Parts: sequence; structure tokens; C-alpha cells
Amino acid sequence: MTDNTILKVSGLAVSFPSARGTLRAVRGISYDLRSGETLGIVGESGSGKSVSSFALMGLLKPGAIVEGSGIFEGSDLLTMSRRDLETIRGRDIAMIFQDPLSSLDPCFTVSRHLVETLQAHRTITKQQAEKEAEDMLRSVGIRNASQVMRQYPFELSGGMRQRVMIAIALLCKPRLLIADEPTTALDVTVQDQILKLLKTLRDQSGTSMVFITHNFGIVARLCDRVIVMYGGRIMERAAMRQIFESPVHPYTRALLSAIPRMDDDKSIPLPTISGQPHDPHSDDEGCPFRERCPLAFEKCAVMPEEVFIEKDHSAACWLAGKEAGLE
Ligand SMILES: Nc1ncnc2c1ncn2[C@@H]1O[C@H](COP(=O)(O)OP(=O)(O)OP(=O)(O)O)[C@@H](O)[C@H]1O
Ligand code: SF4
Ligand SMILES: [Mg+2]
Repeated sequence: MTDNTILKVSGLAVSFPSARGTLRAVRGISYDLRSGETLGIVGESGSGKSVSSFALMGLLKPGAIVEGSGIFEGSDLLTMSRRDLETIRGRDIAMIFQDPLSSLDPCFTVSRHLVETLQAHRTITKQQAEKEAEDMLRSVGIRNASQVMRQYPFELSGGMRQRVMIAIALLCKPRLLIADEPTTALDVTVQDQILKLLKTLRDQSGTSMVFITHNFGIVARLCDRVIVMYGGRIMERAAMRQIFESPVHPYTRALLSAIPRMDDDKSIPLPTISGQPHDPHSDDEGCPFRERCPLAFEKCAVMPEEVFIEKDHSAACWLAGKEAGLE
């Protein structure tokens, strides 16, 4: 682990036993997050993006089988006690989700959410917590903060609720923020405002970020590096520019070639590519993309190792760096 690595995920695998057999959502992923950087995780629905982050945060329901490690500032999130994890969660690592309503308690005012978050992690009077909470609402762009403090989640618009979630997430000045599609449910204008806000707050605080998204436009705007996931595995990883300028993996190439214009940074949703998505119940150990890959050949029945094309740029494909002009 280099000195500035804040999170090191190694061999993370998550499976869910079910009546249909074991569903293998994440099949051994490893990545490093450096302090202050934003790592994008992209991939189509069901590729294991959310489950991998939920597993690290201890947020999966009982029954999920989690293997591997997730070292955050020297401690393994996957083996530490529930109590230690709860202390870290919300204080050192915070998460924001696609649907803020599901993470806000409908019976609590905005004020109560914020004040309880502060009081759970710091010794602070209610009065001081209320002041800090209101200040935080203002810093996430809520002008009528004192009024919003008294409101319930259902009284707020989707964009406002997401601002409240961001305020809760940033209240204890976390060193790592995991954002799971935080703008997907919002209309394009509000989405744009929330992204600008996150970017500004991140730049001011130097918070490291994992940003899960379906949208390559967001990757281009926000991320330093990108991981492309498919079938619970990492297909390619690269610096933001490399992924757009010289994608190597056939899956990444298929995604990017289906996007009409890369210079439109407003909204570039993940395109659909032909063929059936990978079956998470499959116990096939070959390349998960091979049913849809135009370049598949016999060797692809075995999962390839990741090959480094250059520093910080690797792909898990038998052809990476070798044949068919994939270099
Ligand atoms: N609690 C659960 N129990 C059983 N299977 C689950 C559970 N949560 C997720 N899965 C399955 O795990 C796989 C990965 O799901 P995950 O939510 O990580 O996908 P994702 O990449 O985040 O997709 P999306 O872009 O749609 O959010 C999917 O097949 C999903 O159905
Ligand atoms: S390993 Fe084979 S099937 Fe998988 S992406 Fe590469 S060429 Fe295609
Ligand atoms: Mg998800």
C-alpha cells in the first residue's frame, strides 16, 4: 500500500445463497483509492457496483457471504467489530445513495437527522449541533436553511432531499465519500447542480470519493480514475483520460462506441449493448463478457489475468496488449 492509499480493496467477493443456487454478485475485485482522488465505478445494471460498496460498509443484510479485505487507513472494514465499523461509518466514511427518501426517516425532521448524526460521533451540545447543522445546510446551497431544518423529508423536493443527504454525509467531515448514483433520480438541471456542488465541496475539503455511476459524462467531469465492472469483475481500469482516449477492453470499447458524442458533458448515460447480461448465478469461470464479445475465442473460457498496458491502465482480456489492435 502506498502512503497515500486511503482504501485498499483486495479480492472482494460477495455472494447470496438463494433457492436458485448461489448468486455471485462480486467475484473477486481489487482496487486502491488514493487520498484526495475520485474513483469512478461504471458498468451496466447488476455488475456488482453497489453490492461491492455495501459490503465494505457492512450494509448488506445477514446471509450475504463476503470474502476478501477492505483496508481503510490501516484497518480492515470487513473484519473489524460492528461497533468499530459503526463508529467509522458516518464519521470517517459516508455514503450517499440514489434515493435519499429510503435513507431518511420519514418521522424525523431534517434537523433531527443532522443533529443525531453529529451527536452520534462527537461530544457536542444540542444547541451547537443545531448551529453546525444549519451552517452545513447553507453550505450545500440551501438558502432557507432554518425553515428546512424544521421540515420532514416528504415535504422536500428530490433535489432538496439529496442536498440534505449530502449535508448529513459531509457533516462529520468524512475522509471518504461513497456516492452510489446520487443524481440518477433527479432531472437533468438538478443533477447538474448537485454534481457541481459535490465537485466544489470535494475540492474544498480534499475528500476522497468513490463515485458509482451509469453515466460517462459524470466520469469525465468528476473522476480521476475509472474502474469498469462487468459480471462482478473488473474489466478495465484506467485514468479518466485513458478510458476515453484509448479504451482497451472489448466491453469498454462497446460501451464507448455506442455513445454518440464524448464532448457533451451534460448527460451520457451508459448505452445498452447487444446480447444478454451476464447471469449472476452462473458458476462459469471464463470471461463473463464472452457471450457478447465479438472477439471471443477458445481461450476466453478461462478468466484472463489483468494485463497492464501502461502505468495505471490495465484490462482483463486475453487480447489486451497483444492482438487485434487492442493495445
Ligand atoms: N440483497 C441481495 N440479495 C440477493 N441478490 C442481490 C442483493 N443485492 C443485490 N443482489 C444481486 O447482486 C447483483 C449485483 O447487484 P448490484 O446492486 O451491485 O448491481 P449494480 O451494478 O449496482 O446495478 P445498478 O446499476 O442497477 O444499481 C445483481 O444480480 C443483484 O440482483
Ligand atoms: S477475454 Fe475474450 S471474451 Fe473476454 S473480452 Fe477478451 S476477447 Fe472478449
Ligand atoms: Mg447499484
